[in-house]
Amino acid sequence: MVKRIVLTLAVALFLQSFARADEGMWIPMLLKKYNIEQMQEMGFKLSAEDVYSVNQACLKDAVVIFGRGCTGELISDKGLLVTNHHCGYGQIQYHSSVENDYLTNGFWAMSPEEELVNPDLTVTFLKRMEDVTERVMEGVNEEMKAGERDKIIAANIKAIKEEAIKDTHYTAVLKPFFSGNQYFLFINEVFKDVRLVGAPPSAIGKFGGDTDNWMWPRHTGDFSMFRIYADKDNKPAEYSQDNVPYKPAKHFPVSLKGVNEGDFTMVFGYPGSTYQYVPSYHLEMLTETVNPKLIDVRTEKLNIMNRYQEADPAVRIKYAAKNARISNSWKRWIGENRGLEILDAISKKQQYEAEFNKWAKSQAPQYANLLARYKEVYKNYTNYNLTYGYYREMIPSNGIELANLAGKMDALKALYEAEEVDEEVAKALKKELIGQAELFFKNYYQPLDQEMSAKLLSMYAENIEAAFQPDVYALINGKYKGNIKKYVDHLFAKSRFDSKEEVIAFIDGFSAKSIKALEKDPAYQLNKSFVSVYRDKVAPQRKKYKSELADLDKAYMAAQMQFEPNEVFYPDANFTLRVSYGQVKGYTARDAVYYKHFTTLEGIMEKDNPDIYDYRVPAKLKELYKNKDYGRYEVDGTVPVCFVATNHTTGGNSGSPVLNAEGHLIGINFDRAWEGVMSDLMFNPEQCRNISLDMRYVLFIVDKMAGASYLLDEMTIIE
Ligand code: ARG
Ligand code: ASP
Repeated sequence: MVKRIVLTLAVALFLQSFARADEGMWIPMLLKKYNIEQMQEMGFKLSAEDVYSVNQACLKDAVVIFGRGCTGELISDKGLLVTNHHCGYGQIQYHSSVENDYLTNGFWAMSPEEELVNPDLTVTFLKRMEDVTERVMEGVNEEMKAGERDKIIAANIKAIKEEAIKDTHYTAVLKPFFSGNQYFLFINEVFKDVRLVGAPPSAIGKFGGDTDNWMWPRHTGDFSMFRIYADKDNKPAEYSQDNVPYKPAKHFPVSLKGVNEGDFTMVFGYPGSTYQYVPSYHLEMLTETVNPKLIDVRTEKLNIMNRYQEADPAVRIKYAAKNARISNSWKRWIGENRGLEILDAISKKQQYEAEFNKWAKSQAPQYANLLARYKEVYKNYTNYNLTYGYYREMIPSNGIELANLAGKMDALKALYEAEEVDEEVAKALKKELIGQAELFFKNYYQPLDQEMSAKLLSMYAENIEAAFQPDVYALINGKYKGNIKKYVDHLFAKSRFDSKEEVIAFIDGFSAKSIKALEKDPAYQLNKSFVSVYRDKVAPQRKKYKSELADLDKAYMAAQMQFEPNEVFYPDANFTLRVSYGQVKGYTARDAVYYKHFTTLEGIMEKDNPDIYDYRVPAKLKELYKNKDYGRYEVDGTVPVCFVATNHTTGGNSGSPVLNAEGHLIGINFDRAWEGVMSDLMFNPEQCRNISLDMRYVLFIVDKMAGASYLLDEMTIIE
């Protein structure tokens, strides 16, 4: 008996230590209730209202969603915004060519006229948020079937959003929190004229490249600058020469005071997704099946891409962003598996689940079955989820590009299959597709795609079970006698989709008569064979299991809150604005290795190696180093570059402002350290560190390297 109590206590203690401390991504509106006292104890000098308020200008007014998946922040009253280099990468690449290679050389607009316009780039400000749980749940009761309940919820959500933005130019987003146990509404303002102001050369902005990605010690100058433009009334507008710099309600003062170990830090941004409350079966699915298989396929992709990119500077530019995207998750998955294993995460979850089950059996019998049901669902879901992931790798997610382009013609086909074709609609669609095709060929290299196609087709055949093999393999095994390369050679020889001129002419002249030709195109057929397996055999089942999981998640979340009534829970990240707070802190990476909390210019010079692409230090920086020309950015004879802290962050937090106790900008968040990338699933305060760029390095580069000191004049700099 005594033994059992001790055991329970030990588990409870372990839970405590893993649930609190620096862990958590908190809701800005609720800081007052849950966090502000602790934040102030840790050194924060501002109030909850200073961070988030609807009645006064506050820190939230200086934070934006940058593009679709990053965060950015305002640093002047003229709409100047800073985010990461890797967040502005697509734009920098878009404006780059072999002649004007801004990726390599950097770019700085020396006057407003030189700023570069970016089609499709938006920034999004949060105006206010609101807990709308009650209204979302109106008319829903416990006895309802899931389908019926979901319908009512969806209708409520639609009505709430419509009402909230009626007669305004705002947009509304409504999202579930705590797996659907709570709902929040977000009212946003979206700006569409966002221009590129500057970016350092990749040898600074991407210094260390994918070699150093996800690692500490780090020396990447990962920043770029943009400017938001508005109409004369300071309202969002499409691009126009008449637009003027946006005047934000709030911008961050930039502090040159720097950081010391133990200092309070707050990250204010848009974390994308985390999975803190999933059962052990989810971790098993990732570590044993999904991650390893997807890691393998991406390893092969990267091998091929790197080889072509190293051989030809034009190909290097074309595939720069694609390569970075593939490499980024690939490396994170590897780190995640490693981190979960070292943390013994699965058995920790299992221990917790055993305690949970004991509790449920005696005190909450309605939950006693939950984990057993989870187990059943994951048994089936895992394979579907893997197949889905693999399918994405094959075509839509940087897979066989030719087939992906061909698949886009389905929209045209559908249009012309209708009895009556609306010529206006057709014209607009053709214009849209021609635009997409032009972008496609800007970043396309056929020999690379051809080699990649053969590799991917053979990997899919080896790794995915027979039931999910599309009929293109029957063709390969029949007509081509199993010779994938032969099939691929034929595919590229016969398809029209590898020729820009042909594709554009084809789209332009598309009519009902073109449907036959489209259906005969082998690239179109290839796409179709994969899509139909996905659509008929994978997606419906996956959806079914996912919806079963969603029901379980909702119940398990509520149950965990009852199981630990004294804990304060934070909701998983869902790409809504959150506050993470912690402190600047080094860490022990492994036996005998302790990492300090900051890096300096000295480390850049140590890494300098003209033979390694990722470590070529630009001549100008070397010169500044030689002359110790550091100006006011100097600290102890060098310039600080990056620092680590214990803020709980994830993908989407890139570009987030890192603030000190006064709410001043001291850094830009851009990454996490290798030992802690499992933090999306389990946070370990000893090992998890977010990596930020020190603002002093940012200003040093803008001022001394780029000579764009006019930008500093518009900032509020605190020395
Ligand atoms: N790892 C960081 C994040 O997830 C930085 C990524 C930059 N991309 C890269 N491939 N180096 O986004
Ligand atoms: N690098 C990530 C991003 O782009 C941040 C992270 O995952 O820590 O959002």
